[in-house]
Amino acid sequence: MELRYLRYFVAVVEEQSFTKAAERLFIAQPPLSRQIQNLENELGVQLFERGSRPLQTTTAGQFLYQHALKLLSNAEEVKSMTKRIGLIERTLTIGFVGSLLFGLLPRIIYLYRQQHPHLNIQLVELSTTEQIQALKEGRIDVGFGRLRISDPAVKRVLLRKENLVVAAHSSHPLAQRVEGVHLADLVDEKLFVYPNTPKPNFSTQLMNIFAEHSLVPKHIRELREIQLALGLVAAGEGICIIPASADTIRFPHLLYIPILDSGAVTPIFITARAMDNSADLQSLFDSIYQVYDLEGIAYERSVFEWAQER
Ligand code: BEZ
Repeated sequence: MELRYLRYFVAVVEEQSFTKAAERLFIAQPPLSRQIQNLENELGVQLFERGSRPLQTTTAGQFLYQHALKLLSNAEEVKSMTKRIGLIERTLTIGFVGSLLFGLLPRIIYLYRQQHPHLNIQLVELSTTEQIQALKEGRIDVGFGRLRISDPAVKRVLLRKENLVVAAHSSHPLAQRVEGVHLADLVDEKLFVYPNTPKPNFSTQLMNIFAEHSLVPKHIRELREIQLALGLVAAGEGICIIPASADTIRFPHLLYIPILDSGAVTPIFITARAMDNSADLQSLFDSIYQVYDLEGIAYERSVFEWAQER
């Protein structure tokens, strides 16, 4: 017995007329009469007194009407509960590299949370390399990283290329160069790099940028994380190169200077499982680009988001 037939039957009982019930259901009268006839045939009973005006139910029809009301209301309840449970229990786990926390990541995630209040969003700090493995093992659903790591099971999109800046103490001679410096100006300095996690990592990317300019920094010291590097710079021990968005980290006497070479940039990639086409991922793009618009950040948006590897 289909719920649809019960809905038709209830309408006919309540309207006491096939014509009015058909109007209420927005269907024509002949198919409605046919469906009620089918229901009577299926049950092997007469549901309406023949020839009664207004239409009267038989005893069997009255019994079915009472139970049909309960069944239809239960079905509605089950439908809305299932929808709500589906909304509440959806989780999106996002992996990110630490430095993104000092840039736009918090704003993007906050906006995304507001726009998707029923989605359970979890954040996990992971290196780009760790994110690839975590995606494949299902421990995260999305990754934000800075390295271009290819894997057939993972799709990737370049969101933007971010400028790099030099951090120096206000007493350092480089601090006078407010208009900017070149990478070549930095090779003789004591340069703090981070993190000290397994390579490739951000420090590898930095060394590659120097190498592309045929430069090799002479005095490198590797540190665990960006805050340590900047703290030592603020103590006058050396200089450090960071993504421009992390210049929100403040220490007394710590200054940030633009790097003028065009290749002095660090990319930001979003990655996900190759087969994942969920709407949550697509709407995450919308939140990202909304924040870019608010911040006046230039970007190229592909119509086929993931299809486009840039
Ligand atoms: C960004 O700074 O462009 C960014 C940071 C985190 C996630 C996505 C984008």
